[in-house]
Amino acid sequence: MQLYKKLMRPLLFTLQPEMAWHLSDLGLSQTWFWQMIGNNFQHHNELLEATVAGIPIKNPVGLAAGYDKNCKFLSSLQELGFGYVMGGTITKDARPGNPKPRVIRLKNQSALINALGFPGDGLERALSEISKMVSIPKKSVRIMSVSGTDIPDITECHRQLEPFCDAMELNISSPNTEGLRIFQEPTKLRSLLAEVNQSRTKPLLVKMPPYKSDEGDHEKTLNLGRICLEEKVESLTVSNTIPIAHDGLAVGHGGLSGNPLFENTLAMVKTYHSEFGDSIEINACGGISNGYQAYEALKAGASSIQILTALIYQGPRVVQKINKELSELITNKGNPKI
Ligand SMILES: Cc1cc2nc3c(=O)[nH]c(=O)nc-3n(C[C@H](O)[C@H](O)[C@H](O)COP(=O)(O)O)c2cc1C
Repeated sequence: MQLYKKLMRPLLFTLQPEMAWHLSDLGLSQTWFWQMIGNNFQHHNELLEATVAGIPIKNPVGLAAGYDKNCKFLSSLQELGFGYVMGGTITKDARPGNPKPRVIRLKNQSALINALGFPGDGLERALSEISKMVSIPKKSVRIMSVSGTDIPDITECHRQLEPFCDAMELNISSPNTEGLRIFQEPTKLRSLLAEVNQSRTKPLLVKMPPYKSDEGDHEKTLNLGRICLEEKVESLTVSNTIPIAHDGLAVGHGGLSGNPLFENTLAMVKTYHSEFGDSIEINACGGISNGYQAYEALKAGASSIQILTALIYQGPRVVQKINKELSELITNKGNPKI
């Protein structure tokens, strides 16, 4: 952690965020290296065993969608000690995303605002990347996130990618991509899920839209959760980045991620859990960066947690750090679920 914070991060943070990201990708492309040192990133403890969408995982820390959009680096990322890694979000066709600048760092808050708008190389490219992973020993559960603007495109992505992973996530919640939010309309969501259910053989997660808990704005979103439950979705990811305006972005607005989200994430998880109990699993996502927050999220009713911005701010050791802290908390305070 010290090496990353004292040397790598200051260096990377002198670059534009997307440039820094490309540089980190260069490092991640050396899978042999991560395989060689991967043992140093693990933290094993039976107390950490959990599930995501009903699938057993060695610890509850997952990589959130968006870090590896084209599934090029999952073989390296799975070496970092995650219970599960998520590739994507993948769309059927390649997309350029929004004009730049489209990512901003808010360093003093350990936060980001992104208006990437789903840049990605599309389904064919993701398939060719994932098929390479078949021969690579599996170190964590693999999930792929898909999205799109119409049902045939999404079901096509789902059908083709599902054989290569353990579960799939449907992202209906990008706050800054025109047209990708149509499935927040209840009838459209139900039709999408019914269609995906026709062919699916593996667990399904749905990434829910965020709402501001202090604005009492949850009924519409909970209703989407009810539809997911009725359509036998195994797990809800709660949730995505929160819409925010910023003049530094070419499109003028984006999604906030990182530390400022945590309290809202916690409140959303509590609301979902009090509504649905244990009938559907919840993955807490938004602003989690340490074991204490992870513990709070599990205590609020989550089965797993997901991180993205914390990986950028704290580097590859963050997963081990969260798991160590979580182990200690569970040992001292007891199972957060009881
Ligand atoms: C740069 C960036 C790109 C993202 N891309 C995606 C994406 O493609 N699909 C998705 O479901 N979420 C995406 N997200 C949202 C994250 O998965 C996550 O929900 C959000 O960042 C909150 O978690 P965090 O505070 O741990 O980062 C992205 C977030 C960031 C910061």
